[in-house]
Amino acid sequence: MSASATSIAQRSASVATAAQSVEAQRTAWRDAFRKVRGETERRASHLSAEDQIVQSMADASPTKWHRAHVTWFFEQFLLVPNEPGYTIFDERFSFLFNSYYVAAGPRHARPQRGLITRPNGEEVTAYRAHVDAAVERLIETVNEKDAQRVFAILEIGLHHEQQHQELLVTDILHAFAQNPTNPVYDANWQAPRAAAGPRGFIDVPSGVHAIGHEGPGYSFDNETPRHDELIPRVRIARHLVTNAEWLAFIEAGGYTTPSLWLSDGWATVQTEGWEAPGYWRQKNGAWHVMTLGGLKAVDPQSPVLHVSYYEAEAYARFAGKHLPSEAEWEVAARAGLLADAFGTAWQWTRSAYLPYPGYRPAEGALGEYNGKFMISQMVLRGSSLATPEGHERVSYRNFFYPPARWQFTGLRLAEFV
Ligand SMILES: [Fe+2]
Repeated sequence: MSASATSIAQRSASVATAAQSVEAQRTAWRDAFRKVRGETERRASHLSAEDQIVQSMADASPTKWHRAHVTWFFEQFLLVPNEPGYTIFDERFSFLFNSYYVAAGPRHARPQRGLITRPNGEEVTAYRAHVDAAVERLIETVNEKDAQRVFAILEIGLHHEQQHQELLVTDILHAFAQNPTNPVYDANWQAPRAAAGPRGFIDVPSGVHAIGHEGPGYSFDNETPRHDELIPRVRIARHLVTNAEWLAFIEAGGYTTPSLWLSDGWATVQTEGWEAPGYWRQKNGAWHVMTLGGLKAVDPQSPVLHVSYYEAEAYARFAGKHLPSEAEWEVAARAGLLADAFGTAWQWTRSAYLPYPGYRPAEGALGEYNGKFMISQMVLRGSSLATPEGHERVSYRNFFYPPARWQFTGLRLAEFV
């Protein structure tokens, strides 16, 4: 679906605002909390207990760990500081389920999360129920003086859990892709279709534009401060690059032509033996791809998924184009120029993940959320087919390391004029 200005405004709406009565806010936050917590369990419900403990690589986490970690986040940052009578469910869980918050104490080694068979899944379910009840109690009883501050932490926790909902799906796909029987996560899964409408390139409005989040509505701190950027004379592709276009790149020797690649990218092609996007494999002489619906023939009309930054950059060079900068993408999206801006593939940009001018991380452990990762990663814009409903924003900055391709990552091109 193409993004109109209206839909973008709706995508950044808040769950509740301070203009509402505190009682109305309590109801809105309780409903939002139940909805987000329920969505995590819905996604996990496709999986067996055995599925939920596997960790197929250091970057991916077990489903059971995701379910527990997002729960620990509410316990650690919302309940412990704000609910005086709260009883910690199990003192050992902070070590097991803290991800990277140094200020919140020591933690288990990330690559060994798959070795944690205890607590078992039922105990994690009980942990979730214990924290759910306490959070709902806090929402109901927090005094008016503290309500806005407490609801703000709750809101971060909900967006955090939504991020893990996407990771839960991408991580289990990586695990299933290691299984020779090609397990199916969701039998009803369909490959995304490219939006209709004429393909080609459109002018991005040039000149100085304001970039970044503007209230009201939620944003992560990395989307601020809003600031001016100079947009050059550039055109951007209305559509995402498709599998048919990627097949042409493969057939033209894209993966065997070093001049198309950045040095680090070419080194990765060599060491990893890449000859196609992630999860692509040959079967009976035709390209297939491991999906959430199992192994499927590659659909030429679908947008390409599971390409790294290195591959996206090489493809752009092959096509005689560039990747858009994140500012160019944002200006084009705000103007409603992009098809499939959201809901299919995160789109690599040529922008390094850097702080916006004047950015300062928050004080304390929650300041570790984004700022400390602003090194050696590239920005992706939009959202993917695994992004939960309501989590997209036109100012959203996703980020991954250049070789990463287990997420639902694709690209659109840009050309200078
Ligand atoms: Fe997390």
